[in-house]
Amino acid sequence: MEFTEVVRGRRMIRRFRPDPVPDDQLRRLVELGLRAPSAGFSQGWDFVVLSGRDQVEAFWDASADPADDGPDDNWITGLKQAPALILCCSDKQTYLRRYAEPDKPWQDLQESHWPVPYWDVDTGMAAMIILLAAVDEGLGALFFGVPGDQMDTVRRAFGIPDDRGIVGVIALGHPERTAPSGSTRTRRRRPTDDVVHFGRFSAPGTPA
Ligand SMILES: Cc1cc2nc3c(=O)[nH]c(=O)nc-3n(C[C@H](O)[C@H](O)[C@H](O)COP(=O)(O)O)c2cc1C
Repeated sequence: MEFTEVVRGRRMIRRFRPDPVPDDQLRRLVELGLRAPSAGFSQGWDFVVLSGRDQVEAFWDASADPADDGPDDNWITGLKQAPALILCCSDKQTYLRRYAEPDKPWQDLQESHWPVPYWDVDTGMAAMIILLAAVDEGLGALFFGVPGDQMDTVRRAFGIPDDRGIVGVIALGHPERTAPSGSTRTRRRRPTDDVVHFGRFSAPGTPA
């Protein structure tokens, strides 16, 4: 597929056919994600790949709010059919240690040097590649977050160390429906001229 076709064709998919995605395909997609850039080439990320009913259901059990015994939202019902999930984890300590190395400036390992949490940013960049790679291979995917209150339960369920952030989860599978879903049904893409500022930031509708 042409690159622009992949980018323009990517949509978050919330309904999947139950057909499995083979492990070697999952590995290939994640390996492409590992080509993402990372600050200082720290690569402070980990990906926990879950495939097959048991592993996927273990995730949904661990991420469920025990206080919420009502029916799932519509999108969650469709999402739960996804045959594979990739938990995208970030590792702040790897960045703090990398930037304490001799070619970097912050030997004191202080997080306060970092105005932006690049460990999360870089993991997100890797996730984006995986989303695009999925489209390129005719699959569909959704990136979604783990509720804050369920982070620890999910970490425990899959042996993820306490100091790792779970930046998000990619649900992967064969799309059942590719029609617009989620917020794109009610919100429009922001016009380029409102968003892209050449030379100087300007408010929408005002000359630069
Ligand atoms: C960080 C992040 C978190 C998201 N979380 C959810 C989510 O919890 N549930 C959901 O249905 N979609 C989620 N989305 C998908 C967005 O709703 C979607 O990307 C947006 O509506 C634009 O649609 P498109 O990606 O299909 O172009 C998330 C996307 C991102 C980037």
